Amino acid sequence: MKYLALPRPHPNSRYQAEALRLMESEIMALCEKCGTSSSVEIQSRAGVDWLSLECETLTAAQLECLSHSAHLYVLFEQCGASLNPIVSRRCAYLGEDLPAVLKYKGKTNEVFTAYMLNLALCASDFGFDDAVTVLDPMCGRGTTLFEAANNGWSCVGLDADQAAVDEAGRYFKKYLEYHGFKHEQKRVSRTMAQKRSCQMNEFTYAADAASFRDGSGRRTLSLAKLEAQDVSQVYRQPLFHLIAADLPYGVQHAPSMNKKRGTAIEDLLYEALPSWTECLRTGGAVCLSFNENTIKPEIVRGMMSEAGLDVMYGPAYSDLRHWVEQAITRDVAVAVRRF
Ligand SMILES: C[S@@+](CC[C@H](N)C(=O)[O-])C[C@H]1O[C@@H](n2cnc3c(N)ncnc32)[C@H](O)[C@@H]1O
Repeated sequence: MKYLALPRPHPNSRYQAEALRLMESEIMALCEKCGTSSSVEIQSRAGVDWLSLECETLTAAQLECLSHSAHLYVLFEQCGASLNPIVSRRCAYLGEDLPAVLKYKGKTNEVFTAYMLNLALCASDFGFDDAVTVLDPMCGRGTTLFEAANNGWSCVGLDADQAAVDEAGRYFKKYLEYHGFKHEQKRVSRTMAQKRSCQMNEFTYAADAASFRDGSGRRTLSLAKLEAQDVSQVYRQPLFHLIAADLPYGVQHAPSMNKKRGTAIEDLLYEALPSWTECLRTGGAVCLSFNENTIKPEIVRGMMSEAGLDVMYGPAYSDLRHWVEQAITRDVAVAVRRF
């Protein structure tokens, strides 16, 4: 059977072309996850680039899995000369606009963020319907958390920048209030080594009042200021199913550490990765994106390996470097905790 996937449009045509290659990798990862092997290629039709998939007829469960693609606008089934629309992007748990409304310099594009979560999930032992908990240890103003929330997952966002996590919390509260989502907000103090503590801003919410009352739809979103290398001081158990982070690009965000290795970002990652790995569940996966002008892909993958993670290679997980803007060529690395 032949399927054609129409990508979500991006206002920058140069990025759109790059995003199509990411979509190709994402569709391959999702096909593998839902147990179908498909040949995927880019095709131009009516002046638009599409992804063409050739595989066995997809089941309802497989279509549901593909509907999670961050880049997908509509999936069509080809019947002779006509195209039948069969699936569009999955319904967001809270609202499609949640990760998109807040705009600021240094924000990670929300489609790309959703893609990172998908790659991590596909590499992991977990599925979209599992009660997943996501960590972004460099969450900024929370794009990863809002994408995770829209998948119906709980999440924790940490960042060294207090103002960023405060703004993410204020925005999320306003969003819940504006849309009338039932929720609770509380401050939780978590103990750390050397008599220190971490002050969490914790939201519990649900997509509808009934599932908030009976507890079945309750999810949490927690935010705190924390240095990336201190995560395992707060989370001493392997709690997280997925970790996703867009590392500082070294353009706007420069990590404030003394240089010991090649660059400050290398120092930071070298110290932080073992801490992140400790709080990742067995079968869980990490997806990191980074500016290859500030840290080389082989260094990131080497550090993942050194931290005890199994780095993913293959068509869905390799050759993901893409242009973002002047001075930023981004790459992506994915690794799994096997034991
Ligand atoms: C590329 S930005 C992430 C943006 C985020 N994904 C968003 O959309 O808002 C990188 C983040 O790393 C944070 N950061 C830099 N050094 C850090 C450190 N040592 N520990 C924790 N976070 C750090 C910065 O404050 C910044 O928010």
